[in-house]
Amino acid sequence: MKITEKAQAYIDLENKYGAHNYHPLEVVLSKGKGAFVWDVDGKKYFDFLSAYSAVNQGHCHPKITQALKDQADKICLTSRAFYNDSLGEYEEFMHKYFGYDKMLPMNSGAEAVETALKLARRWGYDVKGVNENEAIIIVCEGNFHGRTISIVSMSSDPSAFKGYGPYTPGFIQIPYNDIDALNKVFEQHSKDIVGFIAEPIQGEAGVNVPDEGYIKQAYDICKKNNALFIADEVQTGIARTGKMLCCDHENVRPDIVVLGKAISGGVLPVSAVLADDHIMLTIKPGEHGSTFGGFPLACKVAIAALTVIKEEHMMENAQELGKFFREELSKIESPLLKLVRGKGLLNAIIIEPFNGKTAWNVCEEMAERGLLAKPTHEHIIRLAPPLCITKEELIEAVNIIRDSLKSLE
Ligand SMILES: Cc1ncc(COP(=O)(O)O)c(C=O)c1O
Repeated sequence: MKITEKAQAYIDLENKYGAHNYHPLEVVLSKGKGAFVWDVDGKKYFDFLSAYSAVNQGHCHPKITQALKDQADKICLTSRAFYNDSLGEYEEFMHKYFGYDKMLPMNSGAEAVETALKLARRWGYDVKGVNENEAIIIVCEGNFHGRTISIVSMSSDPSAFKGYGPYTPGFIQIPYNDIDALNKVFEQHSKDIVGFIAEPIQGEAGVNVPDEGYIKQAYDICKKNNALFIADEVQTGIARTGKMLCCDHENVRPDIVVLGKAISGGVLPVSAVLADDHIMLTIKPGEHGSTFGGFPLACKVAIAALTVIKEEHMMENAQELGKFFREELSKIESPLLKLVRGKGLLNAIIIEPFNGKTAWNVCEEMAERGLLAKPTHEHIIRLAPPLCITKEELIEAVNIIRDSLKSLE
């Protein structure tokens, strides 16, 4: 990729003073609007990563940034040592929006996942009656739930967990999309299993879509065994797959829902856990929290961001354009393109390396032509534009993807 002197200076700065915990594509961004971003040299790109599905509403949505500005001049942070006049409004909004008794606000997706794990354990001890320190949570191979020590203890990906031991105990890993494996683990450990946590589509694993019916069957098995079904909808939630929650495709109402990313439209780190009282109220005052969790700025931004999703029919757009997008991608004939998969506007293409050219080269070609995406797990490219994208824009994007693949043949 061609890198200008100006862009290189920013890259050098990050490399010199920042930890080297990411491997970014060499593009330096400075502006975003809707489905597009611009680099420091003024070049325009389609954003087909959407900050890992945090920017579902599009970059810098005016209604969301206005809510941020309005609240920023009033009060930003109170801590939970006091009440404030935004949190209750937000909690009621979330109750009406998602239909759960209560929400618990946090900041990052990982913190919300940790919260869900804690809730499941507390529920297990206080309600199910599991003996102290014996709670088991079932997790899936290929999962991605974040980066904390406990969460990487659940991971099957060495790049996530290696070198970070000793690991948190209490997790059993089973293959994803395998109902027999789930049944088997319950047969062996039913009395101690407090929950099963899964992504309804594994995003980081490469948009790994399970068989139809898997989520419903998994939910039913949990119910049969008096265990909680926990859906990590951090990446799949908030209209991304064409429904508000991905579990809605199978009419499953999880016991615990974990949300993050697009709750704020990518404007602030805002996450949340949703559950009914018999689960949520097992955590008592002083037993969990975060200084910024539920801060007034986040509350107002989240209300605006979730309102935009409905007002602008983003679920419907994701559903319709997602189908069209997969159809158009499937028409591309290239030895590099092995498979197209996804749901709504959470999609991926699987790249078959050809003449030494890999998914990374495809992403570089696409960037040259004005479309940004990033490989996940070497040969998979996730394609997840903001949900405000139009059909005309999507056609233009498909042309860029096709031209990029063709240029590498
Ligand atoms: C399904 C899922 N859960 C949790 C997380 C962690 O979120 P965060 O990076 O905000 O901690 C992610 C992030 O990609 C995710 O995709």
